[in-house]
Amino acid sequence: MGAVILGTGSCLPQKELSNQDLEKLVETSDEWILSRTGISTRRISGKGEEAFQLGTSAAKKALAMANVMADDIDLIIVATMSSHMSMPSCACFVQKELGATKAFAYDVNAACSGFLFALDSGDKYLRVEKGKKILVIGTETLSSRTNWKDRNTCILFGDGAGAAVLEYQESEQGIVASSLFSDGTLWNLLYMHSAPSCNPDLEQAGNPGNYILMEGREVFKYAVKAMEAAINDLLLKEHVNIEAIDLMIPHQANIRILKKLVTRLGIKKEKVFINVHKYGNTSAGSIPIALDEANREGCLKRGDLLLVCSFGGGFTWGATLVRW
Ligand code: COA
Repeated sequence: MGAVILGTGSCLPQKELSNQDLEKLVETSDEWILSRTGISTRRISGKGEEAFQLGTSAAKKALAMANVMADDIDLIIVATMSSHMSMPSCACFVQKELGATKAFAYDVNAACSGFLFALDSGDKYLRVEKGKKILVIGTETLSSRTNWKDRNTCILFGDGAGAAVLEYQESEQGIVASSLFSDGTLWNLLYMHSAPSCNPDLEQAGNPGNYILMEGREVFKYAVKAMEAAINDLLLKEHVNIEAIDLMIPHQANIRILKKLVTRLGIKKEKVFINVHKYGNTSAGSIPIALDEANREGCLKRGDLLLVCSFGGGFTWGATLVRW
């Protein structure tokens, strides 16, 4: 049918940063953060926990679960926007660390939707190149891009990585379909500068720093509407009723966004996997980390219909159906 997920893995940095810790950095409170976002704590990368290193650890666990050797992997796609270098790609560093000698490797940047976009590319690749095996990874160290003086953003994000090993199979299992969207006209509601793209000797504009900037309220509104629309588009296209969904794994951005989305969709809240309280918003890491936790906790059994959805800077958003 499509690309089957043979194994999943995840890796979170050691260091925890609680809401109480944040109270010492900016004017905020545990009560404010918890009630506005549902987040209690998040993980922050330290030495030896670069995006490629977290991604590599997650990939090793996914490979072990899938019983696949690194040198059997043909392609590695990494979704990230916080690699320690712009070039080479994070995927090339993962390939080196894993010793996945025959794999070609590249990055995808679709912000928090990165993993879903990468998964779709991987699925399409496998439908053509049947018999191959691939790794799809979402990994972020957004703590390195967070302005720790900006209470509007620094309370939201955390670091972490997740990975999946996939192979095409002629069976009932696998990725069924995706509905993915972007709207670059809304870029300025959620963005992060990279290194200046103009030579500073020629272009004297002040460097605003490489931090995440956000219009929180606007992002909130779009996130709910966009994910709802993507899910409805996908369900309609695939003639699937929301009651047929066994488990939903949404991008873990904010509990209030998720509650609104769940109410609008009319899906039972027991069917929605939530871990945002533990890790905050890990961007491209969020879905594969949640997928791995759900998988290891036994929330998914063979034949289940899984619905995954995401929203992120760009704006980018989408939904994917998987027959487990
Ligand atoms: N602690 C305490 N007060 C804070 C605060 C913090 N960390 N951050 C903002 N505030 C204050 C604001 O300054 C404002 O004060 P004012 O009324 O005196 O001006 C007040 O709280 C309300 O701010 P507002 O931005 O309107 O709050 P909100 O209810 O919209 O919640 C977010 C803010 C960021 C939690 C919310 O907009 C949100 O979740 N947006 C989506 C963000 C997101 O998920 N982004 C990633 C998408 S992938």
